[in-house]
Amino acid sequence: MGQPELHIDLARLLDRIETLGAIGAIVGVEPEHRGCARLALTEEDKLGRDLVVEWMHALGLEVSVDHLGNVVGTRAGLTDGPAVMCGSHIDTVASGGRFDGNLGVLAGLEVVATLNDAGITTQHPLAVAFFTNEEGARFAPDMMGSLVYVGGMPLEQALDTVGIDGSRLGDDLESIGYMGATPVPGAVPRAYVELHIEQGPVLEAEGVRIGVVEQVQGISWQELTISGESNHAGTTPMSHRHDAGYVAGHLMQYVRSLAADIGGHQVATCGAVTLTPNLINVVAANAVLTVDLRNTDEQILRDAEQRFAAECDRIAEAEGVTISSRVLARFEPVDFDPLVVDEVEAAADSLGLTHRRMPSGAGHDAQMLARVCPSGMVFVPSIHGISHNPAEDTDPDDLEAGANTLLRVMMTLASQQKDLQ
Ligand code: GLV
Ligand code: MN
Ligand code: MN
Repeated sequence: MGQPELHIDLARLLDRIETLGAIGAIVGVEPEHRGCARLALTEEDKLGRDLVVEWMHALGLEVSVDHLGNVVGTRAGLTDGPAVMCGSHIDTVASGGRFDGNLGVLAGLEVVATLNDAGITTQHPLAVAFFTNEEGARFAPDMMGSLVYVGGMPLEQALDTVGIDGSRLGDDLESIGYMGATPVPGAVPRAYVELHIEQGPVLEAEGVRIGVVEQVQGISWQELTISGESNHAGTTPMSHRHDAGYVAGHLMQYVRSLAADIGGHQVATCGAVTLTPNLINVVAANAVLTVDLRNTDEQILRDAEQRFAAECDRIAEAEGVTISSRVLARFEPVDFDPLVVDEVEAAADSLGLTHRRMPSGAGHDAQMLARVCPSGMVFVPSIHGISHNPAEDTDPDDLEAGANTLLRVMMTLASQQKDLQ
């Protein structure tokens, strides 16, 4: 049976993006760059959660909050059983945009609103979820809520995570009122589909509207602590130094050359560095440095980690410092389910939208859900490929195209009689 020709209401979607984006709003370099700072489990995150939960109730969804604060709004189907789920996250990095994560959740609400307006009940239930602490910017690892949801990390370990500001995740979750009653791991969905902005330049450069995501690249996060000796900047001969700041700078330079040398999909970033005592006339005693390495190929990613570790040993010996390293996140590349990927492609095609298959450079909750159910993703272009920046933006026509693609995929998956797996 063919799908009825339903379309989402762009004005209503934009209105929700705007209203949620006003919580924790920040302005970027240009006044028209309107972004968001809603770090996980802060007061801003709580206000954003309250708003989305209110919207879920208004749409008639049955809302559950689990022990890690993951929120799932479910719409009943003609039959009981696992729901076809969509969603994403509403936490942001401190210098975030209005679309990263939020789009997938708000487009999910728009799918529900569209079906409500049309008076359509799908065969299988539908669910819209937002997962706790996807960004991992305050509490590592990233995708933590969905990782715990699928049973990939014990709840206690997640609750005991200490953030960059020294607070314990479980305490903050409790104080914002989102330590819910639903147990984790959560109910396994029938399928999971996530709409997200690309956060990179590919779709825009090629003038393509829909990214059919086949794979998410592997992620390796570590934090290095470099311990040297503080000393006088004027009197200490260069040969006598054990300079943690110099070693941090060297390693920042090294990861860049490592990525260039490996080439292909390899990316490498040192996004945070702290020097102690951080004074103009003192050789730094300590440095704490984060390293983010990613590749679509697990073996190449491992080789990059090994080469980086070898360089740490070499420079530590040469400068007379010690370097210890702590893994903050390590996820292998993930392939999405071919059936869901095909459905995303078919939906874009049937809507007359240009599309291309592509990997995801960013981490997403969908890669965690892929551990337990057939999963896939829909990407829409990011203007100038910019994300994790208040300037992050997507053309409204592309938001509409993405939400309509999501609607169609959800309807198809929720009407299929046979098992997807
Ligand atoms: C998380 O969203 C990441 O890709 O850094
Ligand atoms: Mn995201
Ligand atoms: Mn992000």
